[in-house]
Amino acid sequence: MCSKLVLVLAIVVAVTAARLVTVSGATVGEGTLVTGESCRQTGVLVFYRIKLVTSWSKKLFPKHYPEFRPPPHWSMTFGQTHNASFRLYEMKQAASVPVATFAETGQIAPLEESLAQQQDVLFDEFRLPKIRKGKGASEATFFVDGQHSSVSFMTKIVPSPDWFVGLDSFNLCSRGRWIDRMTVPLHPLDAGTSSGLTFTSPKWPTNPPGMIEQITARYPLHFASSFFYPEVKHLPPIAHVTFTKIKEYVNHNNVHKKVKRLKHKQRSKLVKKLSQETSTVVSGYGGGSGGYAENAVVDETLNAADCRVSEWTAWSPCSHSCGLGKRNRIRSVLQTSRPGGRECPPLSETQWCGSARQCTVQDSYFRW
Ligand SMILES: *[C@@H]1O[C@H](CO)[C@@H](O)[C@H](O)[C@H]1NC(C)=O
Repeated sequence: MCSKLVLVLAIVVAVTAARLVTVSGATVGEGTLVTGESCRQTGVLVFYRIKLVTSWSKKLFPKHYPEFRPPPHWSMTFGQTHNASFRLYEMKQAASVPVATFAETGQIAPLEESLAQQQDVLFDEFRLPKIRKGKGASEATFFVDGQHSSVSFMTKIVPSPDWFVGLDSFNLCSRGRWIDRMTVPLHPLDAGTSSGLTFTSPKWPTNPPGMIEQITARYPLHFASSFFYPEVKHLPPIAHVTFTKIKEYVNHNNVHKKVKRLKHKQRSKLVKKLSQETSTVVSGYGGGSGGYAENAVVDETLNAADCRVSEWTAWSPCSHSCGLGKRNRIRSVLQTSRPGGRECPPLSETQWCGSARQCTVQDSYFRW
């Protein structure tokens, strides 16, 4: 058992080392810039499916299972992709008013309003339709990019005082690669703003408000709690969420072919538009697979014959104030390469910006 573990560790170390060697080998060989993490490349847009599967049944959670008025169900899911500066909610922290409102009432409008103030850290916004029974499924799609690779969402448990399931800042970029497929178990969370131990207890404000906590078989430690099951160690997950990568769009000419395989009519329109934009963007600098990481490390081993370039200019303003846009930055050649020296690296770089769904006119998402 022990030696097996050592063997596994040794393999992991060996694989990691091999990967590092390859990466740095490529760097030295082609040598201008090193991209830190491949999913941080600019110009990459990744399209994911999110599927929520709920398992709130009388069999799994017999206690207080609400049979009538209202029958158990799940609110619409509110989701957002964003960078590391944004938190929809945080465990063991007080819920914001819009998050608490959503947890208590299922109303999304206050959340939408508060997020409208934070557009620069946000990327795409998505909704999963209501699940009308305790057991069911619902799905949607969303975009992330190299600068906004985290996803957060929440779904209210109905009926309940202020209980929900969700994820806080799940990063779809793991070790530099976009996750292909990942399923995460979900447990009920308590927003801490409405007192009540059971699904159907009357609501009154918790004063002062508590923190967001996971509800477990032992928390709250009270026999009247709907999830209090002293005979089990852990509650089964009440839901699961699965993220599946559908496509990665880079500055690549093949995008046209990829577009055709997308079923959803509107998505294909959107993606077609994207592909046209990316192919115009790419022309002029080599058709590589995307740009370079913002914090790209400049190779220190430049020699006298190598091309030398200036620092990047600041990013241009986003081309769209509503919907997904692009921004650019450029740099110039300080010294062209001499015989035997390295060629110049790309002189312009493009990044997605804005949010795919921040427009007040709902339909305008696809009209850019
Ligand atoms: C998130 O985006 C904002 C706006 O572009 C930026 O100021 C901030 O530094 C970003 N946060 C992180 C952790 O990258």
